Amino acid sequence: MARKHLLIVFHSQTGNTERLACAATQGALAADAVEVRCLWAKEAAARDLLWAEGLLLGTPENLGYLSGALKDFFDRTYYPVQGLIQTLPYGLFISAGNDGRGAAQHIQRIARGYPFRLVQEPLICRGTPTEAHLAQAREMGEALATGLGLGIF
Ligand SMILES: Cc1cc2nc3c(=O)[nH]c(=O)nc-3n(C[C@H](O)[C@H](O)[C@H](O)COP(=O)(O)O)c2cc1C
Repeated sequence: MARKHLLIVFHSQTGNTERLACAATQGALAADAVEVRCLWAKEAAARDLLWAEGLLLGTPENLGYLSGALKDFFDRTYYPVQGLIQTLPYGLFISAGNDGRGAAQHIQRIARGYPFRLVQEPLICRGTPTEAHLAQAREMGEALATGLGLGIF
């Protein structure tokens, strides 16, 4: 049977979110249930959303908001995929200095418009990612991949 497709889209300025994205990718691959495409937000496009059957979004919180690069990904893809995608199950990971809630809220609001459906509690990692944060990101990737593979989302 054909494998489901999991798309991971992230941005990172100083590497923290990138490390979470790598951990999520490792977790998703470990599930051995889906094909994974992990892309920087600036490289990702509408064609990737059209390919995807599940989605993980990652960003630093910048000024109480999502990063400009992830916002730009939304700006570039919103209209091109309207009417062409099924509701995509998604998860969300955020690297923040001391908060992260603003980015999480704004992404969830944007996601409802596509529509994407949140299937996991957002992961907010404060400070430099710890081993525990990386383990949580791996679990997030593995859980989404496993759920997609089993067809439960
Ligand atoms: C311009 C700028 C704005 C930031 N604003 C916030 C913020 O509003 N809330 C917060 O918790 N952290 C804030 N931070 C801290 C970053 O979210 C944090 O350092 C994060 O780990 C960076 O992730 P990255 O290495 O993937 O870029 C800000 C950092 C920068 C550079």
